[in-house]
Amino acid sequence: MTDPSDIVWHEQTVDRAAREANLGQRGAVIWFTGLSGCGKSTVANELDHQLNQLGRATILLDGDNIRHGLCAPPSGLREEHGEEFANRFGLGFGATDREENIRRIGSVAALMASAGLITLTAFVSPYRIDRDRVRKIVEASGAAGDFLEVFVDTPLEICEARDPKGLYKKARAGEIKNFTGISDPYEAPKNPEIHLAGGEGATPTEQAVTVLEALIQRGIIAQPVPRVAE
Ligand code: ADX
Repeated sequence: MTDPSDIVWHEQTVDRAAREANLGQRGAVIWFTGLSGCGKSTVANELDHQLNQLGRATILLDGDNIRHGLCAPPSGLREEHGEEFANRFGLGFGATDREENIRRIGSVAALMASAGLITLTAFVSPYRIDRDRVRKIVEASGAAGDFLEVFVDTPLEICEARDPKGLYKKARAGEIKNFTGISDPYEAPKNPEIHLAGGEGATPTEQAVTVLEALIQRGIIAQPVPRVAE
């Protein structure tokens, strides 16, 4: 057993403030949550694009992509690492696996924010306790206000009608278990910093602008200077 006192934090010369000063922005985590198919990846991707055009330094961590690497399923690890390793570290969709998925991402997101990046994440993250733990990790490594929860609140019927990957259909047929909204719960945020009514109405671009405005209002990025026509 490793004695926790054998692992000692090492202070680094370049601190967060220095990194943020170089980038001219504050690091933060913008945490999109919602059902599969609610539009969180689309809005996060659009926001990433808008921030990029404003010259901001960002990174986008998206559930489907992260589950190809850092949080791969057992089947994605077996060939390279063997059966025992794959079963031990590969992640599925049971509650404990989602807890570990969000713990890993939360820790990575906190590191990215410490590097001064505006870190956008798009994960179903259905359990309130897991999202609240990330909030704690991010705020502990920075300050209160560094974690913004964005609830993409699209009704299940709309997500299911969209079914972009055909997963709802499979879940209804019992071919996928633990499917959020069908055979697994989704615990909606009680007090998200930003609540986007998904489905009808606003386009993903307009929803991204709503989040962008919140970032400006909170001083995470400066008010963009309007371009003057030449
Ligand atoms: S989370 O619940 O652990 O946060 P995450 O965002 O990483 O989930 O991955 C969700 C994506 O995996 C969904 O967008 C969907 O494409 C796919 N997926 C496959 N099986 C499931 C399932 N049982 N529940 C939810 N999403 C699933």
